[in-house]
Parts: sequence; C-alpha cells; structure tokens
Amino acid sequence: MCGIIGYTGEESALPLLLGGLERLEYRGYDSAGVALIEGKKLIVEKRVGKIRELVRSLWGKPYSGKTGIGHTRWATHGAPSLKNAHPHTDSRNEFAVVHNGIIENFLEIREELKREGIRFRSETDTEVIAHLIARSYRGDLLSAVLETVERLKGAFAFAVITVHEPGRIVGVKQGSPLVVGIGEGENFLASDIPAILPYTRKVITLSDGEVVDITPEGVNIYDFYGNPITKEIMIVPWDIVSAERGGFKHFMLKEIHEQPKAVGDTVRGLISSGEILPFSLKDFRRVILIACGTSYHACLVGKFWMEKLVGVPVEVVYASEFRYADIPVSDKDLVIGVSQSGETIDTKFAMNMAKEKGATTVALVNVVGSSIDREADHSVYTHAGPEIGVAATKTFTAQLAALYYLSLRENPDRETLIGDLMQVPSLIETVLEKAEEVERIAEKFLKKKNFLYLGRYLNYPIALEGALKLKEISYIHAEGYPAGEMKHGPIALIDENMPVVVIAPQDRVYEKTLSNIEEVRTRKGTVVSVGFEGDERLRKLSSDLMEIPHVPEDITPFLTVVPLQLLAYFIASKLGLDVDQPRNLAKTVTVE
Ligand code: M6R
Repeated sequence: MCGIIGYTGEESALPLLLGGLERLEYRGYDSAGVALIEGKKLIVEKRVGKIRELVRSLWGKPYSGKTGIGHTRWATHGAPSLKNAHPHTDSRNEFAVVHNGIIENFLEIREELKREGIRFRSETDTEVIAHLIARSYRGDLLSAVLETVERLKGAFAFAVITVHEPGRIVGVKQGSPLVVGIGEGENFLASDIPAILPYTRKVITLSDGEVVDITPEGVNIYDFYGNPITKEIMIVPWDIVSAERGGFKHFMLKEIHEQPKAVGDTVRGLISSGEILPFSLKDFRRVILIACGTSYHACLVGKFWMEKLVGVPVEVVYASEFRYADIPVSDKDLVIGVSQSGETIDTKFAMNMAKEKGATTVALVNVVGSSIDREADHSVYTHAGPEIGVAATKTFTAQLAALYYLSLRENPDRETLIGDLMQVPSLIETVLEKAEEVERIAEKFLKKKNFLYLGRYLNYPIALEGALKLKEISYIHAEGYPAGEMKHGPIALIDENMPVVVIAPQDRVYEKTLSNIEEVRTRKGTVVSVGFEGDERLRKLSSDLMEIPHVPEDITPFLTVVPLQLLAYFIASKLGLDVDQPRNLAKTVTVE
C-alpha cells in the first residue's frame, strides 16, 4: 500500500507535500518522509509513525525547495523503522525515490548491485530503484527511469527526483495507482485523488505501463518504450469538503452518517445511466462475484438477491482464493469484481485472470478511472464519494444498492422493487436517529474480549460484516457465524462472558433465529439484538435491542448493518483507539 505524492511549481513544496500526505495517511501510517531539492542539495527527512511525527520534526526548519516528493508507508519489505522509511536515495544522495507496491525481483537486483560495490542502507525493495536509476543516469532522468523500469518485476508505482534536474519529477505506474494533478504553473503526482483535491480538480489517471514526466510548465506521458501517449484530463466532481471531517470526531462516523446520501446518489446514478449493462445476467450459465473484505460481504448479500430476483446461479469467491484455485471459468460466465477502491490487487488480478479465460468481466467500483474500472469489459459505479476511514461503511451500503439494482432490473416487479430501494436512504436516516441508544449499549461492552455475531440468510453476511467492523477498529476478537451453524461448534464458546450480537428482523428465518437466541440464553450468553421496532418477543430475549423500521426482508441488510457499524465505532472510540487508521491496516491493499 503506501501513499506517494509529488509537487513541482512556484510554491514552497513542503507544506503541500505534508498536507497531501495527511490526506493519504489512510493508505499506511508506519512511517513518513519527504525529499526536497534545496538549491543544489537533496534534503531527506523521515520519521517512524504518523505524519504528525514528521510534521513536528520539521517545525522551524527553513526549507523552501519548490520540488519534492513524499511518502506514507505501510510496511511490506522491512520492518517499520527509520532506515526503512521512504524516500530512499542512491549512494551519493543525488536521487530520491518514493514507492508504493512490491518489486518482486528486488533480491536478485540487490545482489547484483552489491557485487558492484553498492552498500544498502535499508531492507526495502525500494532502495534498488534509487541505485538502478543512479547507475543508468546519463543526463536525462526520464531515460534513466525507462532503463530502470525494464529491470523491475511486480506491481508498483514510484516517483523520483534528482539534484541534477531540479523542477523535474518522473513517475511510473505499473500495477499500483498513480494520478497526475494539473495546476497553473505547478503540477502534482499522487497515489489518490483526494491528496491533491485542494489544489486542483484536473486529473489524469495513469494506466499500467505508463511513465509521466512533470515540470512546473508541463506534463508528458510515455509508454515504457518512451513513445509519447496522449491522455484525457478528467475534471473531478468531488470537492474537498466531502473529503474532510466536517464536525464529526472521526471520518468513520461522518461516513456512517453519509450513507443515506451514498445510497441515494448510487441509485440515482444507476437509474440515470439507462441500460447499465448491454446484456442480461441470465445470458450466462452463472455469475461469479469476486471481492475482498467488506466488498466480499456485499457480494454474499448480492448472491441471495440475484438468485432470488434473477434466477441465475451465483458463486462468491474471495479474490485472493480465486486466482490460485482451479475454478472452471469460460465465456459462459459473467464475473463481477466488487471493489470500493478499484485498486485492490487481489481483485484486479482475479478479474484479469477471469478475462483471460474468456469470461465477460464487470467492475463494480466507487473510484472512476481506477485500474479495475479500466481493465474490465464493463463498469457499474457506486456514487459514495471518497471514503477516508479505513473501515468501509458508506461504500458497503452503496455496493448493496448497486447489487440490488443489478438484480431487480430483470424482475417483472421491477417498478415496485425500485420504489422499495428509493425508500432506503430515509429508512437509514431513521436508524441513524437512534445512534445515541447504540452509544449507550456500546458503553456496557468495553471490557469484553470476544464477541459472536449471528445472522441467517440475507443477514448472515451482515453478521460477518458486523464482526469485521468490530475487530478491525477495536482489536476485540469477533466472529461472524450463520446462526443455524452455531450448534455445530461455536456454541461451546458461549458463557456469561460472551456477548452475542444477533440480527433478527421478522423475515423468513425469524422463528429459527429466535430458537438460536434461546440456545445462547440457555448457556448464559448475553444477547444484543438487531430487530424490528416494537418487537417485544425479541426485546424480552435480549439484554439490548437495536431497532430498525419494518421493511420487506430484501431491504433488511441495508438497515441491520447500520447499528453494527455504530456499535463497532462507539466501542473503538470509547476505548480511545485510532478509529480512522487502525493498526496494521491500510485503506487500499495493493499488494498480494
Ligand atoms: O477497495 P476494496 O473494496 O477492494 O477493499 C477491499 C477490502 O480491503 C476492504 O473492504 C477492507 O476489508 C476494509 N478495511 C473493510 O472495512
């Protein structure tokens, strides 16, 4: 993962780089650093930990260089330490590199360079890039980078500056994201659009196999053979306000509250796109949904909808498993890759593999112009806006909206079902009005070490999602399980110390779920439930009930997930944890 940024222009680069890094910090926060061209010297400053550590260390330092690069790291090769923090430089401190991704053949290159007498200062794969560029440099940074890229294997993006050519930044994209921001007398490079949104909304999204050469006066793009490429400039519709916290304590809480808008915008976007796909899901022998993490949970809900409303068989596969399994895939299959970022490498590789095997591929993504979007045969968009909190919330409900829409568009009751879907934003508002009640419930569970989440049918994936939210931001162990499976093993875990969160709307499996609750109570487990307003039977069986309005069963996942997001949020926030940037995680996972 990691975030990279570059600036060249008339302003002092340092504040712009630090501001950009703060907006990229969700991508990794093990260490941070910047490199600046100060006169004829290369200055490199780095710190272990968050960007604020770097900012503090730079107070009072009179840097005014107008060209620089910056990095925030999520460690892959080499521990999170000062020596492994980026930027990395060549032996003579003339070239500085920031890098996101993995150079798979770095060990081989490292050995070769060591034989030439180069002494390595870090354990990273990145350092080889700096040495290779320095070795290839004969007066033109672009040529040195092109020569270097020939040697590199893996998925990566990097940016490089040199004292020999102040004002110039060269960036490379191969597998990891990189965008170019176009300004007036200044230009930018970044891993993600929000990093540069305060300065420009004119953006070029680079594709794999492209190199960009940036100066204050212009931007030139080439392929890896040095052939010039013309790219379209996109005007980004988001404004910076939507990427800032706006009065909420954390981005995650803000984004939970943005769900009515995210779902509403997504539905309106899909309706206004007309025929979103030029075929029916039924034209295929089956649909395969591929994703990771929260997006995978959205797919599990989508499977139930597609099988019920379209009548097509659906398989849901973790992207990281798909790639290495021998799943028979052919042109008879439709493969839909679901990804908020559109950059998750597991999903991207799995989609490409399915495409090679002849499948028709559809990207269901939130980031227009992302790799998965560009590489798929067709795209369907969620319109959730930028999501900054590492824990996915509004993009999950937006994915549900898109998957439900894909399912209902082929159903004879389409109009009624669209009507139901259009109600979802105001129904979510109703659930959000009870946030204080969830906060009160959260208070009771701060000392618990384990949670079990149970749900059945459409709400089984919501149990998985509730458990994922809790564990990723609170570091409390939580397991999601199909309620009916509990008696086949996990029931052994239940005692008076085990809170069991049960999702029990009055749907087709309601009575069965109540029986499962009885099984928990008999073993002295504490039941916290999510159910319909005024459900007195459920209330009596639960220590606490988190209420949602009465809705048709297909709509329940949109609502049941919201109290679970809030529960996880309040527990983590009350424990004083870093909700938006939980340890060991990064927002976008661009490594295998
Ligand atoms: O960008 P993607 O949707 O492809 O990301 C997939 C997962 O990495 C992501 O959902 C992750 O599980 C989140 N931290 C969940 O909150």
